[in-house]
Amino acid sequence: MPDPQLALTARVQEALTAAFGPSYAGTDPVIRPSQFADLQANVAMSLVKPLTAERGEKQNPRGIAQEIVAKLDRGDLIDKIEVSGPGFINLTLRDDWIAAQAQRVLTEPRLAVPETETPQRVVVEYSSPNVAKEMHVGHLRTTIVGDALARILGFLGHEVIKDNHVGDWGTPFGMLIEHLLDIGEEKAADDDSSVSDLTAFYQAAREKFDSDEKFADRARRRVVELQAGDPETLRLWQVLVDVSKRYFNTVYRRLGVTLTDDDIKGESFYNDLLAPTVQELEDKGIAVLSDGALCAFPPGFTGREGEPLPVIIRKSDGGYNYSTSDLATVRYRVDTEHVDRMIYVVGAPQALHFQMVFAVARMAGWLNDGVRAEHAQIGNVLGTDGKMLRTRAGGTVKLSELLDEAVERAGERFDAVEHQAEFDAATRDEIVEKVGIGAVKYADLSVALDSEYIFDIDRMTLFNGKTGPYLQYATVRIRSIFRKGGVDPETATDPIKIGHEAERALALKLLDFGAVVQQSGELSEPHRLAGYLFELAQAFTSFFENCPVLNAPDEETRGSRLALSAATLRTMTTGLDLLGIPVPERM
Ligand code: ARG
Repeated sequence: MPDPQLALTARVQEALTAAFGPSYAGTDPVIRPSQFADLQANVAMSLVKPLTAERGEKQNPRGIAQEIVAKLDRGDLIDKIEVSGPGFINLTLRDDWIAAQAQRVLTEPRLAVPETETPQRVVVEYSSPNVAKEMHVGHLRTTIVGDALARILGFLGHEVIKDNHVGDWGTPFGMLIEHLLDIGEEKAADDDSSVSDLTAFYQAAREKFDSDEKFADRARRRVVELQAGDPETLRLWQVLVDVSKRYFNTVYRRLGVTLTDDDIKGESFYNDLLAPTVQELEDKGIAVLSDGALCAFPPGFTGREGEPLPVIIRKSDGGYNYSTSDLATVRYRVDTEHVDRMIYVVGAPQALHFQMVFAVARMAGWLNDGVRAEHAQIGNVLGTDGKMLRTRAGGTVKLSELLDEAVERAGERFDAVEHQAEFDAATRDEIVEKVGIGAVKYADLSVALDSEYIFDIDRMTLFNGKTGPYLQYATVRIRSIFRKGGVDPETATDPIKIGHEAERALALKLLDFGAVVQQSGELSEPHRLAGYLFELAQAFTSFFENCPVLNAPDEETRGSRLALSAATLRTMTTGLDLLGIPVPERM
């Protein structure tokens, strides 16, 4: 990988071995970005103690830094070395090394990013909306973030199992099925019926359940029949599931999310596994009766008064619940899917639920050191008033309306740019759809996934700033350079040379791509990639303003700048694709 940090780490480790002996060969040289050079090695400070002990004489970090530098081989890699402050080693890379590595990004497959040497089987669980309910902004965010994680981990060479854990089981289905029967199921097939307006459908069922005793009785009986596997009840349940799936799929297609029906493994999938899961917990003495309910008490979880907090596994009425279902899910993923890692991309409010489920799963031995389970806690999405996003009437905001609004605002901004008049209406609409959707997706991805953020359509659709449209525009602009010059970017592979400072900064930025993707996947932090692409776009903008490409002073420089532009284009399009952000051909 053309990663400067890795290259320098290896080089400084050689120096450490040469200076202090083979026991230091594996010491982390602590290479960090620096204001004063390309990178800085901060290892000298941490060597004071061991070297003082070894030499029986007080050592100082500056002296240690000098000893390292004396053994440091610059080779084709390092240009300048300087010891500063208490013992920082400032390192400046050679221009021709940077250029050669940027060339690799341009010409090697996968932008010279190697596949992982330790591929894992990873479940990425995301989106997970509820059947017969509208998706809300929380689901929007888990969908977008989860899809980016799945793409990134796949690119790194892991085996990714995408898993849409839809809420398609449980007590609400009694009332939903009875309500479906009341309005007539043929209506369910009709897209304009009240069934396709899921919020209204759910609310109507709920109201009847709360006000009509007879209806409530029917609903309760229906739940029992559903759980007993009554064929007619299951058929009706399937009708509801199918209407919802159609709706989920329209959202996924519009967002360009890779989830399909094959990725759905909803709560109902685990229904038959609930009893054996509970049995195993009882056999292992983990589940015990408490006030008629079967509970597990994972160590370390206590309530206000210090009393142990239960995970309820079977209610006193014999019914199973959300926790039972999640325990069966963990067990299935470990025992049957044999996963190494599971990432739950789910809202932060469910943090305690997952902590306790994971704790019980550890007690049962399903989770152990060989399996990593993590809750990627998705922060709340707020309205511009800083409160939970709601409609003016206080209801849940419909996702499709939110997306329409973003696309509309993107359109206004697009139309305000003068030269856009050259696009016909259909092309314009296509571009604007990509810009609006890209704006929403980038806004979701550019902040750390666990922080709250304000869903501000005005801000996210800006063409300038840390936004999706800015990144799309930067990419399109590179394409337009090639179009104007009549050059195919695929063939722009002339040798890259570094003359101008802005060329150097851009080339150096290109080299970080692989490490950033790796960290984004390893730490489940796609915002790192989102932030990197913004910096790359900025570096390109500055290059473009300072270094004429098509009108470069000579052929060699022109070829080099075209090659640098092509490498940037490749990195931008690959990176944006990993985030699932569409890029229009022109805009
Ligand atoms: N359906 C749930 C909701 O909308 C999310 C499911 C999360 N996943 C899980 N394994 N519990 O809140």
